[in-house]
Amino acid sequence: MAVERTLSIIKPDATRRNLTGDINTRFEKAGLRIVAQKRIRLTRAQAEGFYAVHKARPFYGALCDYMTSGPVVVQVLEGEGAIARNREIMGATDPKKAAKGTIRADLGESIEANCVHGSDAPETAAFEIGYMFAGIEITG
Ligand code: CMP
Repeated sequence: MAVERTLSIIKPDATRRNLTGDINTRFEKAGLRIVAQKRIRLTRAQAEGFYAVHKARPFYGALCDYMTSGPVVVQVLEGEGAIARNREIMGATDPKKAAKGTIRADLGESIEANCVHGSDAPETAAFEIGYMFAGIEITG
C-alpha cells in the first residue's frame, strides 16, 4: 500500500476536554506519524472555506459556528493508506453509530461535537492539507 498523507483536525470539543494527547496516542499506536501539527483558532471565513463542500447542507452554518467556537489542532498524518486508516481510527461520523474502540465512539459527544475530522479521499486530502499548511511546515 502506498504511503499517503491526510489532514486531521482535533475539534473544539476535544481541545476543550484536553483530549489532544489521548487522540494523538491513538494515531501513533495505529502506525500514523504526525508530520505537521499546530493549534489555531479558525476564523469564520476560514471555516466556511474549509467546509465549502458542505455549503448546501442544512448543518453548514451550525458546523462553521461550532468549528470557530474554540481552538482546534490541525495535523498532517502520514502512513501507509493513511486516509482510510485514519477513517477507521476515527469511526463513523455519528458517535452513536461508530464502532467500539474508535475515537468518535469512545470520546465523541454528538454528530457535531465528534472530536475529529479526517480527509475522505486523496483529492480532498490534497486540498485540505494545502488549506491548512505551507509545504515548509510538513516534515516527514
Ligand atoms: P466532519 O468529518 O468534520 O465533516 C463535516 C462535519 O459536519 C462532520 O464531521 C460532522 O461533525 C458535522 N455534521 C453535523 N451535522 C451533520 C449531519 N447531519 N450529517 C453529517 N455531518 C454532520
